[in-house]
Amino acid sequence: MATDSKIMARALARYRRDTERRRERQQIQAETILRTVPRAAEIQRELRGTVGQIVAAAFRRGADPTSAIRALKERNLSLQRERAEVLVASGFPFDALDDKPFCPRCKDTGFTEEGPCKCLMAYYTREQNKELSKLLDLGGQSFDTFSFQWYNTAVDPKEKMSPRENMEMVYELCANYAHSFGPKSPNLLMSGPPGLGKTFLSACIAREVSGAGFSVVYDTASHVFAQFESGKFGRENPFDDDANTDINRYLNCDLLIMDDLGSEMTTAFVVSALYQIINTRLITGKQTILNTNLSLPELGKRYSAAILSRIEGEYQILTFFGEDIRKQRQR
Ligand SMILES: Nc1ncnc2c1ncn2[C@@H]1O[C@H](COP(=O)(O)OP(=O)(O)OP(=O)(O)O)[C@@H](O)[C@H]1O
Ligand SMILES: [Mg+2]
Ligand SMILES: [Zn+2]
Repeated sequence: MATDSKIMARALARYRRDTERRRERQQIQAETILRTVPRAAEIQRELRGTVGQIVAAAFRRGADPTSAIRALKERNLSLQRERAEVLVASGFPFDALDDKPFCPRCKDTGFTEEGPCKCLMAYYTREQNKELSKLLDLGGQSFDTFSFQWYNTAVDPKEKMSPRENMEMVYELCANYAHSFGPKSPNLLMSGPPGLGKTFLSACIAREVSGAGFSVVYDTASHVFAQFESGKFGRENPFDDDANTDINRYLNCDLLIMDDLGSEMTTAFVVSALYQIINTRLITGKQTILNTNLSLPELGKRYSAAILSRIEGEYQILTFFGEDIRKQRQR
């Protein structure tokens, strides 16, 4: 799983801030408890103080410290037991004074030997969803709120099935795609006229895949190309400005959703940037979803045979048809 360094940096900052706050709260809580339960405070002091003293004393006498340590351990255990008892007697949890980490898995560092811990990844997902929500309605558009009522049940003679039947298939495929997303998932091309739910379903997928801990980037094709255009490839240090950070995100994220392909001013530069995106992501095994109002032949005509051949060979094609939902809603 790739993580996006820009998003991760933000997640880590918040994670550390929260961990720090939690520690402070624990501290304040402990102080309150120690004030209300004086015996617990005594025990606490003794537990802290005795260790050094006893061991040091044993060494000073030149005696074998083993038995002193054994005695100390027993004393400590009985003090801890007593502390638990007085705490419970005063209505506090028995372990209210223990310095326990919030996450036992990573001890609140955010990382385990395998990489980022689940607790940190929850922050990562939240930051990523914030980013996705700038452009997508992640709150309102989910597989649960998707409605089939907008799709006609009458058979479309050209497509030989009804928009409703078609959408049921498309929906099913998208839901499965989102639930089982992984490095072996296919790429998707959502193609069809305006107002039929392509962006809606993309938002549903983005939400789920992001929630599963993958890095997901959503952007419109025109913005993607603009970033490529302002990126200074071939420079000494090409990754030191914003545009290039975005380009890295487009190329390296686990799932890239490029919306409204074909609505941009298509120039030779755009064609080569699109080729680079599609090709790089295919080679590195990263998944891409393209949304467009163009048909396959139109894509080929506009973006070259090389691009069309990659889409036809490596993308699962989802065709949308029916009546524009935006227009239906106006009525
Ligand atoms: N299945 C659905 N249930 C409820 N609302 C929907 C559904 N599909 C789409 N909509 C709504 O209809 C409008 C158009 O949908 P969407 O933006 O997904 O269309 P699109 O296919 O991406 O169109 P375009 O090609 O113009 O980008 C949006 O307001 C969206 O919320
Ligand atoms: Mg759209
Ligand atoms: Zn953790």
